Amino acid sequence: MMKIPLSRPFWEKAEEEAVQKALRTTLGTGDGPNSEELSHQLKELTGAGFAIAVTSCTHGLELVMASLGIGSGDEVILPSFTMSSTANAVVLAGATPVFADIDPVFANIDPADVGKRITSRTRGIIVVHYAGMAAPMEMITNLARRHGLFVVEDAAHAIGASYQGRQLGAWSDAGVYSFHGTKNVSCGEGGAVITSREDLSRFMDVYRANGTNRKAYLEGIVDKYSWVDRGTSFFLSDILAALAVSQMKKLGEISRKRSQVAGFYTDFFRKFEPALILPQVPEGSDPNWHIYALRLPTPQQRTVFIREMRKRGVEVSYHYVPLHSAPMGAKLAKGKPVRLPVTDLISRTLVRLPIYPGLTNQEMEYIAASARGILDRIL
Ligand SMILES: Cc1ncc(COP(=O)(O)O)c(C=O)c1O
Repeated sequence: MMKIPLSRPFWEKAEEEAVQKALRTTLGTGDGPNSEELSHQLKELTGAGFAIAVTSCTHGLELVMASLGIGSGDEVILPSFTMSSTANAVVLAGATPVFADIDPVFANIDPADVGKRITSRTRGIIVVHYAGMAAPMEMITNLARRHGLFVVEDAAHAIGASYQGRQLGAWSDAGVYSFHGTKNVSCGEGGAVITSREDLSRFMDVYRANGTNRKAYLEGIVDKYSWVDRGTSFFLSDILAALAVSQMKKLGEISRKRSQVAGFYTDFFRKFEPALILPQVPEGSDPNWHIYALRLPTPQQRTVFIREMRKRGVEVSYHYVPLHSAPMGAKLAKGKPVRLPVTDLISRTLVRLPIYPGLTNQEMEYIAASARGILDRIL
């Protein structure tokens, strides 16, 4: 029996050498030469004016929410179908997350549902580009403009993916990427924030440096640095930044190889349509295939599929437990019912398959053969 994990980093000799070099030549602290190079790569890729390496996408989202100055009494609309990090960033800033539903095809935030949840307290919208497929950015940004709201992209899944030729993450006030060990570009734990707003970038430079004007000091703008505002430390170690730089150089190859795996799955699973729902690509979107997710007709069929695939050594998984129905979501709702029917349906029937550049043809054939045996029986 084969053992196939859900995800595996694409680290090779180049990454080993980059880390070794960083160990020999840097202090390993933040804002070293590799962080600078990473920032340069991200600006080149996205066209953003500013790019900052951070310890995680989670911290990047917190940094962005702090920079937008939200607080008590403010509301931010975001999908319930996401990781807790997206909502925690709002909660930790002292504001209230308001959950919106997703569309039934791409599992991205539904602009019509967002529109219904805007109140006089709404300050902004956070979109998640689920699986690296573009959320409907024109509709969201138009809606935000009409109501004077900020838009932030949780682009944890979306490095290297684009919509209408523009990189995801670069469509809004700020975008945040994840370089977690399961992501397309991985340094174990890490992330980055991009923005073209100088005011946000200036705030973030102080906030992430323990509230000091260290950046201005390093640039020779002030002759000593000191504590000037509230803040914390979100610096990515330069050793991890070296790993991320090395991965960024292979971004094209990573996306291409993932796309080949996705193509194999789609060709294979098409025969089970329409019972099985395959991932769709939004028009104008060039995805990075961070996730390949199928949907089964019922939660019961999904449970059987996952159990049987795991018995055959194939790690398939599901997500997310919708935030509105999780214990913290229920606490925030204070007994008021939150109705998100598409989120509920998708989260109960979705299943993720292994996808990563190093997946071999033999492994893909094994996954397909294992799935066929189960689907022929349960569909
Ligand atoms: C949508 C979304 N946002 C944020 C995160 C958090 O990323 P990180 O692990 O880099 O903090 C994740 C992690 O998978 C995610 O899926």
